[in-house]
Amino acid sequence: MKIVGVYSIKGGVGKTSSTVNLAYLAAEAGHRTLVWDLDPQGAASYFFRVKPKIKGGGRALLRGKRALDDIIKGTDFELLELLPADFSFRNMDILLEGAKKKPIRQLQRLLKPVVGDYDYVFFDCPPSISLMSENIFRAADALMVPLIPSTLSERTLLQLKDFLRKQEGFGALKLLPFFSMVDPERSLHQDTIERLSAKHKGVLEARIPLSPEVERMGIHRMPLPAYAPSNPASSAYRALWEEVAEAL
Ligand SMILES: Nc1ncnc2c1ncn2[C@@H]1O[C@H](COP(=O)(O)OP(=O)(O)OP(=O)(O)O)[C@@H](O)[C@H]1O
Ligand SMILES: [Mg+2]
Repeated sequence: MKIVGVYSIKGGVGKTSSTVNLAYLAAEAGHRTLVWDLDPQGAASYFFRVKPKIKGGGRALLRGKRALDDIIKGTDFELLELLPADFSFRNMDILLEGAKKKPIRQLQRLLKPVVGDYDYVFFDCPPSISLMSENIFRAADALMVPLIPSTLSERTLLQLKDFLRKQEGFGALKLLPFFSMVDPERSLHQDTIERLSAKHKGVLEARIPLSPEVERMGIHRMPLPAYAPSNPASSAYRALWEEVAEAL
């Protein structure tokens, strides 16, 4: 089982859209796939038409009163399952802080019983850097980091790299930054992509274009490649998935 966190400190950069589309593509390729919606906003749950609610909330989950496989829901797509968000996840840091031991390894612990059930797990992460994020970094094999090619995106990437460098035990965590919401008309985007790709090792080649079709996922409430498989943005997500699968 490989675990991929789709993560950024920044909000609104395309984490949820990417999680939903990549997980769909992984399942479509025949892999048993789980999306864990860790964001109390519940956007990934919304896209999969699953109610963002866990009986007893995050507390019941962390205290072992609810088993993970009790909460996992099916989606409309074969091989693709979802662990919905719960609004109580907004208090996750406090709950994690209260864990009797190893507050930074709780996600890893919770996933143990389902290790054999999935080929890929995707975390849709909330935009923050917190104890929850640290749990994500400990549990994941790789972090995909969407970057909008603007001046601030490098700062975000540097902050994350700096954080990971200062903590112990993240040596094996693969950082997979990629460009998201790329506008081919904007020269600033093209310049930023060239500059950051040359400067930072490991930036993926696939680029997700700025596309109204991606925005329409909220209307269709399903992954983009499920309703527009030949749209250029679907092809971009496909290329991205192939690169990630290769890197894992
Ligand atoms: N490639 C794209 N082209 C156009 N719009 C996009 C693209 N990717 C995402 N969006 C839109 O941008 C908004 C933010 O995207 P998304 O929810 O995926 O980001 P996020 O990083 O998960 O946000 P948050 O930090 O709030 O969880 C959404 O309205 C989404 O439809
Ligand atoms: Mg999101």
